[in-house]
Amino acid sequence: MTRVPPPPWKPLHIHVLFSFLFLLITVVEFSCASSQHFLTSERITLLKLKQQWGNPPSLRNWNASSSPCNWEEVICNHNGSVEWLLLMSMGLTGHIPPFICDLRNLETVFLSDNFLTGEFPKVFYNCSKLVNIDIARNGFFGRFPNDIDRLSGLMMFAVGGNNFTGDIPPAIGNLSALMYLSLDNNLFSGSIPSEIGNLSNLETLDLSSNDLEGEIPSGLLLLKKLYSLTLHKNNLSGRIPSMIQSLHLIEIDLSINKLNGSIPKDFGKLRQLEVLNLFSNHLSGNIPSEIKSWSSLTTLHLARNKLSGPIPPTIGYLKGLLNLDLSENQFSGDIPPQMSHLKLMTLNLSSNKLAGKIPFAFDNLAYENSFLNNPDLCSSASSPISNLHNYYAKSPHSQKFPPKIIAVIVVLSTLIILFAILCTMNVYRRYLKK
Ligand SMILES: *[C@@H]1O[C@H](CO)[C@@H](O)[C@H](O)[C@H]1NC(C)=O
Ligand SMILES: *[C@@H]1O[C@H](CO)[C@@H](O)[C@H](O)[C@H]1NC(C)=O
Ligand SMILES: *[C@@H]1O[C@H](CO)[C@@H](O)[C@H](O)[C@H]1NC(C)=O
Ligand SMILES: *[C@@H]1O[C@H](CO)[C@@H](O)[C@H](O)[C@H]1NC(C)=O
Ligand SMILES: *[C@@H]1O[C@H](CO)[C@@H](O)[C@H](O)[C@H]1NC(C)=O
Ligand SMILES: *[C@@H]1O[C@H](CO)[C@@H](O)[C@H](O)[C@H]1NC(C)=O
Ligand SMILES: *[C@@H]1O[C@H](CO)[C@@H](O)[C@H](O)[C@H]1NC(C)=O
Ligand SMILES: *[C@@H]1O[C@H](CO)[C@@H](O)[C@H](O)[C@H]1NC(C)=O
Ligand SMILES: *[C@@H]1O[C@H](CO)[C@@H](O)[C@H](O)[C@H]1NC(C)=O
Repeated sequence: MTRVPPPPWKPLHIHVLFSFLFLLITVVEFSCASSQHFLTSERITLLKLKQQWGNPPSLRNWNASSSPCNWEEVICNHNGSVEWLLLMSMGLTGHIPPFICDLRNLETVFLSDNFLTGEFPKVFYNCSKLVNIDIARNGFFGRFPNDIDRLSGLMMFAVGGNNFTGDIPPAIGNLSALMYLSLDNNLFSGSIPSEIGNLSNLETLDLSSNDLEGEIPSGLLLLKKLYSLTLHKNNLSGRIPSMIQSLHLIEIDLSINKLNGSIPKDFGKLRQLEVLNLFSNHLSGNIPSEIKSWSSLTTLHLARNKLSGPIPPTIGYLKGLLNLDLSENQFSGDIPPQMSHLKLMTLNLSSNKLAGKIPFAFDNLAYENSFLNNPDLCSSASSPISNLHNYYAKSPHSQKFPPKIIAVIVVLSTLIILFAILCTMNVYRRYLKK
């Protein structure tokens, strides 16, 4: 089995959006200069935190003679009490200490991309106003506690890229305010608790790159506000839930699992869908003809499944489609000529059972690796790749100059010629002067 390439395109992560938003807010706070007053007790707490986290050079501005509300990493409310701690990529080490909740009004703690460690930070249970927690990409480990619902006000919870193990506790379904939940790139096992389907405010769910198994709970695709569902690279099996009510979905990534059955017809209801990654599963059946309603789709990656039947001609009317990979399936029939309308960046129909002629628009060298291993496929006699078999038998190392190199060569030669002309003119002029 060949290595699976990363999905060709991912929408801007809400993470990034959040960070930009926060930067903006920081700037606004500064310009309002409402940050003269502060609570002395909270400055003491912050300086203790700085020490607890190894006195990193990134926090050298945190000292006993300045107002914490003026520190770049801190946002205070109008009473000069700390609300937000923005400590991403600060080189922090050690544990999260219980006294962090002495910051009575703490709402947001961003601690991603540091070297913090320890078991699940239950200390946050005592921060009564906490709404946003991001501890992604640190060194946390161990099981999630079964009473995780004590973080009851949580709206954003990002813990990706740690070493959390064990089951995802069903109590997570009690965090009813959650909008953003990412548990990706950990060592979670067991099945996805169906209680996640109770999170009616959820917009983003990322459980990718864990060891989750069992079926996808049907409740996930009933979440009305969900717009990004990423379950990529787990051990999920069974069918994709057939009933879908998450009509705002923009991205679905269920790739690299063991899902079987067919692509649900209800996917046709997803009019806002931009990315559908279902590659490397055991899916069978046809591509549903309902796909014609995917007018926003940019990426359709269904490679390495057992999908069969014809490629629906309606695929040619997905105007925004940029990346289409249907390789290593059992699609048959002709390549629909309607596909010539598409302005694709990547196309792969290799290793199927397609027959007939390659549409004129694709019958050129740019697509030389897009139709490999379809024994009954042929190109037109006038095509630059008219001898399909010889052409595709060619060694992959054979020399051919890519357009960029050709452009460089052309520019260089032009420069050299110009230079030569100038030199000649110069010599000629001197000659005339004599
Ligand atoms: C304390 O930090 C502020 C910036 O936050 C800096 O301007 C000031 O010089 C520092 N004072 C001392 C004594 O280090
Ligand atoms: C500021 O303090 C006053 C009085 O203690 C309180 O009523 C108000 O809710 C506080 N405001 C904020 C934003 O914490
Ligand atoms: C929460 O705070 C109380 C008292 O302030 C303390 O007794 C308790 O251990 C704390 N709980 C956690 C989980 O840190
Ligand atoms: C997770 O654990 C492994 C093995 O102990 C270790 O190599 C890795 O660095 C840990 N990852 C994180 C994010 O802590
Ligand atoms: C969710 O909260 C309710 C009410 O507090 C509680 O009875 C239930 O056990 C919780 N669910 C889980 C799975 O812990
Ligand atoms: C949460 O989900 C579980 C399982 O899906 C269900 O039994 C339970 O009634 C739900 N609880 C609430 C409060 O909706
Ligand atoms: C997936 O499950 C199978 C057994 O069903 C197991 O052998 C395999 O190691 C699992 N793979 C991962 C990545 O968890
Ligand atoms: C799908 O997989 C499940 C187990 O993962 C199996 O029981 C079922 O028979 C499979 N269905 C099909 C159509 O292959
Ligand atoms: C298409 O997929 C095949 C594997 O099935 C691969 O060998 C080929 O390089 C791919 N072509 C493109 C254009 O990515």
